[in-house]
Amino acid sequence: MSKQSLDRILQSQGFGTRKWCRELISDGEVAVNGETITDYRASLETDGLSFTIFDETWEYRQHVYIALNKPPGYECSRKPSHHPGVLTLLPEQFTWREVQPVGRLDHDTTGLLLMSDDGAFIHAQSSPKRHVPKLYVATTDAPVTDELIEKLLSGVKLHDEPAPLAAQSCRRLDEHRLEIVLEQGKYHQVKRMLAAAGNHCQALRRTMVGRLELDSLSLDEGEWCYLDEEKLSLLAPAGA
Ligand code: URA
Repeated sequence: MSKQSLDRILQSQGFGTRKWCRELISDGEVAVNGETITDYRASLETDGLSFTIFDETWEYRQHVYIALNKPPGYECSRKPSHHPGVLTLLPEQFTWREVQPVGRLDHDTTGLLLMSDDGAFIHAQSSPKRHVPKLYVATTDAPVTDELIEKLLSGVKLHDEPAPLAAQSCRRLDEHRLEIVLEQGKYHQVKRMLAAAGNHCQALRRTMVGRLELDSLSLDEGEWCYLDEEKLSLLAPAGA
């Protein structure tokens, strides 16, 4: 249980500077339980708090954990240069809260992207020691052959990687599509592994992280949702 003044609460939730939050409150734009509060010093219990700003209701969250169905043409980098950033797909207050992607997908890769403002979570989730499997569906230029699958499973040598990298599992879906599971998250890993195995990745979609499946979230491209405890537990490595 923790009580905080309303201006601090709004600031912590990404609604702007303290000064701006105070103005919103004194202008009568903020309501709690249907009652407009104009005193920014009002002290409120944050646990289970929901508040309305400009007629939109938000729940207080100490941290946010988000899944986005990433469309093509968006960059995951902090300072996007050639395409809009993925944060532009989320409400503006998440940028103020410093929500960041957990790892990166290339601008043309689509599918499941996790995002959060919890540094410890981002760090743990991106740690190579954690071995969280990630499942991708790759569309290839040349047909998917048994030989290609074998190469990806036994390991391919990538430029500037000391040891060959192997898929944890890999299977052909149809003539030009394969499903590949990786535990590492090296730069352009799927694309580089396919190239090293003699094919070319035309399109890439991430459909699962840990045991969290994108399909279970029912998100259209560009849509996002919060992840609750149950969904977050699916991100733990198997046996954890
Ligand atoms: N591997 C890639 O090549 N690109 C991605 O975006 C993710 C994995």
